Amino acid sequence: MSQASANLNIMIKAARKASRSLIRDFGEVENLQVSMKSAGDFVSKADLKAEHIIREELTEARPNYGWLAEESEEVKGADPTRRWIVDPLDGTTNFLHGLPHWAISIALEHKGEIVAAVVYDPIKDEMFTSEKGAGCWMNDQRMRVSGRSRMIEMIFATGLPFGGSADLPETLKDLARILPGCAGVRRWGTASLDLAYVAAGRFDGFWEHNLNIWDVAAGVLLVKESGGLIEPLKKGDNLLEDGHIIAANEAAFDSFAKVIRNT
Ligand code: IPD
Ligand code: CA
Repeated sequence: MSQASANLNIMIKAARKASRSLIRDFGEVENLQVSMKSAGDFVSKADLKAEHIIREELTEARPNYGWLAEESEEVKGADPTRRWIVDPLDGTTNFLHGLPHWAISIALEHKGEIVAAVVYDPIKDEMFTSEKGAGCWMNDQRMRVSGRSRMIEMIFATGLPFGGSADLPETLKDLARILPGCAGVRRWGTASLDLAYVAAGRFDGFWEHNLNIWDVAAGVLLVKESGGLIEPLKKGDNLLEDGHIIAANEAAFDSFAKVIRNT
């Protein structure tokens, strides 16, 4: 990004610092010849370490902002209008399995709105950043959503519920409606990157049920600032808090949303 604010620079620095620790641990997890349980414990520690690094960087620079992250209790800030929303390791299951597709997601919320966002994929060294009104960037390149408008040419991303999740029947119905009329659906396992890829025009759209605020907070701004549309799946829900999300380029949004919302 050409003219990053002080806050965005702090966020980028925190993401880069945490990424060094995560990359070291990712190298080890790939070689771990141990049970899934010990690998799981190892990854939880990697996750906690990354969160600790990000928290130190952000709170040292902005001690009065609030803090909400996947691995810790929420902390209200002395400034009640601003909070960091952080997922230190999005794509934990990929990380655990040695799949090189995971990210660090950091958002800054001001008065209920996301005003700065970082989604960093350290393996590909792709730093997606955005600030309200300043567009969306990947490293030094400006991002735009895709220009496709024919559903049959489009690729969408989603998340598939696992481990007995109650969302499975609904997602299977979504897939049955969307798959016959599009070029494919991907489940890559990192919601923040799914949204960054919509922003970059790599995916034409994305939807998922039951996400957490830290999965989507940064991605929401990336999509908006790259010219995309992003809404709660269920009209009337809160986009950030309720976790059911649909996003696409502007030309595709209505036809895509009609299929997914079944309206
Ligand atoms: C998960 C990923 C995944 C999404 C899940 C999230 P985690 O986050 O973003 O793509 O489908 O709903 O929980 O657990 O890897 O941080
Ligand atoms: Ca996550």
